Amino acid sequence: MKLIIFEILSLALIPIILASRSIQFFQDPAHPGKCVIDRNIILSPGEEISTSDICGLIKCAHFGVALITGCITQGVHPTCKILGYVNRSAPFPLCCEKKILCWSD
Ligand SMILES: *[C@@H]1O[C@H](CO)[C@@H](O)[C@H](O)[C@H]1NC(C)=O
Repeated sequence: MKLIIFEILSLALIPIILASRSIQFFQDPAHPGKCVIDRNIILSPGEEISTSDICGLIKCAHFGVALITGCITQGVHPTCKILGYVNRSAPFPLCCEKKILCWSD
């Protein structure tokens, strides 16, 4: 049995439209209409940032509502196993990259 280790970059294989998306609220009465991600990151409507803190892309919509695009949940072949992230602190979408271990006979 041979072991093949390779890395795949999910976004190179799957269009970004399939990325996981979620809506979150970042309202702060001190900054009406803006998305207050944290003390240092305050986005105006239409602005977006890519952050490795959450490994995703945060796009501020209106009224403090932001759309978050994260990594795709990857399915792998039954003879393969996900070993973990290649570099979780790399900028998005590189932080999504995973090490995959596959068996072949
Ligand atoms: C991971 O990515 C960060 C940010 O780009 C970089 O500074 C660091 O050297 C990388 N680590 C590895 C193990 O590649």
